[in-house]
Amino acid sequence: MKLDTKIIGRKIYCYKDIPSTSEEAKRLAGLGVREGTVVLSESQSQGRGKLGRSWFSPKGGIYLSIIIKPHINLVEGSLITILGSLAVARAIRGLTHLEANLKWPNDVMIHGRKVAGVLTEKGSSDSFIVGIGINVNTRKASFPDELRSESTSIRAELGSKVNLEKLIPVLLEEFEKLYLIFLSQGAEKILDEWKTLSSALKTWVKVLTANGEYEGKIMDLGKSGELILRDSDGNIQRFTTGEVVKLRST
Ligand code: BTN
Repeated sequence: MKLDTKIIGRKIYCYKDIPSTSEEAKRLAGLGVREGTVVLSESQSQGRGKLGRSWFSPKGGIYLSIIIKPHINLVEGSLITILGSLAVARAIRGLTHLEANLKWPNDVMIHGRKVAGVLTEKGSSDSFIVGIGINVNTRKASFPDELRSESTSIRAELGSKVNLEKLIPVLLEEFEKLYLIFLSQGAEKILDEWKTLSSALKTWVKVLTANGEYEGKIMDLGKSGELILRDSDGNIQRFTTGEVVKLRST
């Protein structure tokens, strides 16, 4: 695999099957491996998704976790999740003609269906673990019933298989480009580009969180990548994680 990066993926631990690449990356971060180390697996038996869900991880997808140590005071990982999902969208757009879009906070969508997700977790000693799962060559019929209508894969949208050996380096290169911009210039450019690829701004949504459901209009993303919502009484609420369900366009 040809990889044109300086930090991200200089060392890649490859597995055939592993419970979770993010779990393994956490362990490695605890041992003090260098920044940019990647854990990659062909499949996962206990892939983790956001909000405590599991992540369907059969062979044919990309499952990888990147260890980063940004050394800046990040309150939480929201910005990194935004950065990671933008890297996925850029990589898919760059390698295929598919119009990958973004759905806050961590979903990459094609034609309204989820093709990839990003889960950022805190690791030990100032590290963050950025877990990325992409449905690449997964057949539509193989998704479990409860996921089939809302999920898709690159193969299903493209009508042909995609070479993982090509997509993985493009993804890591896009991630590094954005990460270096983030470190040197802050998050503004990343948030701006993210917003251009998101269709939900200014629409009415329901946000499902561990603490309940909230309805309102998406006004913007905050400086930390948080979702800013205005409810019908004009109250402003900020969310750092959750699931957005679109209700109507205005
Ligand atoms: C989501 O729920 O949208 C986030 C899914 C993140 C899945 C990836 S796959 C690689 C890494 N290892 C895990 O166990 N989860 C993440």
